[in-house]
Amino acid sequence: MPDRAAPPSPESAYRFGVRLSERGRVVGIGDGIAWVEGLPSARLDELIGFDDDSTGLVFQLGRNLIGAILLSQKTGVKAGMAATHIGRKLEVGVGDSLLGRVVDPLGNPLDGLAAPEFRQFRSLEAQAPPIIERDFVTQPLYTGCKIVDSLIPVGKGQRQLIIGDDGTGKSSLALDAVITQRGRDVLCLMVLVGLPRSAIAATVEALQANGALEYTVVVVAEANALPGFRYLAPFAGCAMAEHWMRAGRDTLVVYDDLTRHAQSYRELSLLLQRPPGREAYPGDIFYLHSRLLERAAVLSPEQGGGSMTALPIIETRQGEIAAYIPTNLISITDGQIYLDSKLFAGGMLPAIDIGRSVSRIGGKAQLPAIKTASARIRLDYLQFLDLELFARFGTRPDPAVEGQLRRGRLLRELLKQDRLAPLSEQAHLAWLLAYGEGLLDAFAPAEAAALLPRLFERVAQARLRPEDPKDRWLEILREAVGKPA
Ligand SMILES: Nc1ncnc2c1ncn2[C@@H]1O[C@H](COP(=O)(O)OP(=O)(O)OP(=O)(O)O)[C@@H](O)[C@H]1O
Ligand SMILES: [Mg+2]
Repeated sequence: MPDRAAPPSPESAYRFGVRLSERGRVVGIGDGIAWVEGLPSARLDELIGFDDDSTGLVFQLGRNLIGAILLSQKTGVKAGMAATHIGRKLEVGVGDSLLGRVVDPLGNPLDGLAAPEFRQFRSLEAQAPPIIERDFVTQPLYTGCKIVDSLIPVGKGQRQLIIGDDGTGKSSLALDAVITQRGRDVLCLMVLVGLPRSAIAATVEALQANGALEYTVVVVAEANALPGFRYLAPFAGCAMAEHWMRAGRDTLVVYDDLTRHAQSYRELSLLLQRPPGREAYPGDIFYLHSRLLERAAVLSPEQGGGSMTALPIIETRQGEIAAYIPTNLISITDGQIYLDSKLFAGGMLPAIDIGRSVSRIGGKAQLPAIKTASARIRLDYLQFLDLELFARFGTRPDPAVEGQLRRGRLLRELLKQDRLAPLSEQAHLAWLLAYGEGLLDAFAPAEAAALLPRLFERVAQARLRPEDPKDRWLEILREAVGKPA
């Protein structure tokens, strides 16, 4: 659906004719929902206006009654008030004036600055690009995370789920991915649904402190916002990204998180008396998230070649990935990054469970040099975890196994990474080669990990590029590693 230009001036829009209009009446109000009668031609997703100048979104059609979500926190809508058709669908302002801003799902500012000026608007709901307009995922989207970029790579246009219990580092991983886009010409959207104000402020602050706010839009529906706002936020963020994708730009959208989004939708549906299904979610909950995530895509060159990469986040309870919403999302996305609370408690940060994480298409988009250098690492690491489990039983391992265990422990230490410290592709290649070629084998794991910053500095100084010959890389890396003390 194309962007709509700003409405024409009243004079040019003037037309003679007769118009019949329906006039409805509010019969009930509460929890951000208005029940209206007397608008028999209302359609789903249409806007209706109330006498106090506030608007509502038609969400439920009954025989005589319609249920509408109120689109303003402070409305004076009361029972008995008149309601009329506005004759439009819900749209949000899009465009570059949003960059660096914190807005609500309707584009209103929440950062205390002037309202962004919009010249174009886009419908919150839109058809996903059809297959004929799409291209294959072929370009990498760096997240800056060692484990993700080497073992679970993400490509532009991919939908990669971040899943894990609460407090396992899901939001941190997504934030790092946004910060990594600095200087990479990817516009970012952070959709924050149902977070407390302190967490929102911390996210915005981190973006600002790392120079990431200037290419990012933060779309916020707070925890105490009306359920309608929390329900709309991901669609608003998606529409904003879609505008740039259609203009040929690359975009990254983080949905933090879709568990709370699903809960808001459940809340709305129950308030509107829709029949509850499994876990009291309405029957169309799968469709809710599939129609949102289907809009992530890489467009073909004829369509401008833009892309939208989606990083939806889902929270699990006690690692239960077979619950209703997690299984839905796993089946919709192109892979998942699974964060484990046991690993987190054990100090393995980021707490990514490599065995349970997968990227189904990102490998095709990985840089060839990184792909070659990381080819064996996943398998080696998983084998090491198995071996380590057996080694606990006290049997004395033979020297070959001993060597494998030592290298595994080294790898585990190298995979650890602080938050807000994203790596460049150059740095990725540096540690992968140094580990793969055994340059770090003579060091104790912690010592080897402490060497990495020096390696990264040296390859940056030497202006090594991933496509440079491997021998040249190894020469510089050997020299930087030196000998153990
Ligand atoms: N790589 C890391 N290194 C050090 N600390 C980290 C790392 N990743 C996350 N943390 C810390 O772990 C805590 C939880 O992280 P975060 O808020 O990202 O988790 P979450 O899964 O999004 O939590 P929630 O479920 O509450 O949204 C934070 O205090 C964060 O600073
Ligand atoms: Mg979080």
